Amino acid sequence: MARPDTPPQSPDGGESLLGLTEVDPSPVEETPSEFKEGYFPSSQPASSRTSTLGLGNHGPAYYLTRIQKYSSYAFTIFASFHVANTSLIPLLTTSVPESNRYLLLTRPYYQSSLTEPLLITIPLLAHVCSGVALRFYRRAQALRRYGAESHRDRKTIPWPAISGTSMLGYAFMPFIGFHLWTTRILPLYMHGDSSLINLSYISHGFALHPFVSFAGFTALVGIGVWHMTWGAARWLGMAPFQVGHTDSEVPREVVKKRRWYSINGVAALVTGLWLAGGLGVVGRGGSTAGWIGKEFDELYRSIPLIGKW
Ligand code: HEM
Repeated sequence: MARPDTPPQSPDGGESLLGLTEVDPSPVEETPSEFKEGYFPSSQPASSRTSTLGLGNHGPAYYLTRIQKYSSYAFTIFASFHVANTSLIPLLTTSVPESNRYLLLTRPYYQSSLTEPLLITIPLLAHVCSGVALRFYRRAQALRRYGAESHRDRKTIPWPAISGTSMLGYAFMPFIGFHLWTTRILPLYMHGDSSLINLSYISHGFALHPFVSFAGFTALVGIGVWHMTWGAARWLGMAPFQVGHTDSEVPREVVKKRRWYSINGVAALVTGLWLAGGLGVVGRGGSTAGWIGKEFDELYRSIPLIGKW
């Protein structure tokens, strides 16, 4: 008879610990046959079938965001040329006629019949249209999600919030539109081509209409650079709202604040640099004499409102 202070004998004669049988671990390859199907999750998602065009099964927001992103890359190529031509080179040469030579040298790269649509027209249109379409798509999603049925329901559901970057983008449109129209479309329409247009044309405009030119170019450059810098920060995942969970000692709010200051610092620096060359050198270049000056006068006179001042 077993003594009361000794553990009871297990049925396997004491080979197991507390009555449990020890078994060897099962290697992965030896998955029990009854679990062979569906034991481990498949590495391929169930619906990985590509669509008819082979583009994958993503929603419209996926494609619209990508169009908005890649179109901005193309325009950045032109903007880099442009900041060099209209600011850095004038700052280095401190002469408008001298800077015009460099402008003409690089112009074929962004103003040919192939590169102008690829670097300027199509990216600008695609960028704006995809942004507007994305906003309408998100609005439609919100209406569906909240089950809006009547006109009254729709009115109670707010539109998706507009980010500061988007607002800057919309504010930029009239300025870039006016700039494109005065430097490219109007000369083409009036004279058949815009080959006479160079930095002297801008200097002439400053001499004729100093206030409008000064305010207009400051707004064009300021709004444009701020929009592009915040946009670039977002594409790079460096915007303040994109700060994820941090293991570092620095609190999340501090990281966000640092990013906010850095992005605005970069935008202020680029704007200052662009304006130093654009206003400080090109803006003070003075008017052009002779027949070219007369052609410039004619162009500026044909601009509604400004032409009358
Ligand atoms: C002080 C600043 C600026 C000056 C002096 C200036 C000057 C000029 C000039 C002379 C042209 C004639 C075309 C050429 O480049 O040969 C032009 C065109 C143009 N500029 Fe500016 N610009 C300035 C700022 C900007 C900014 C901030 C943007 C937008 C990011 C911009 C966008 C454009 C575009 C899209 C064209 C038309 C180019 C084409 O279709 O070939 N500009 N600008």
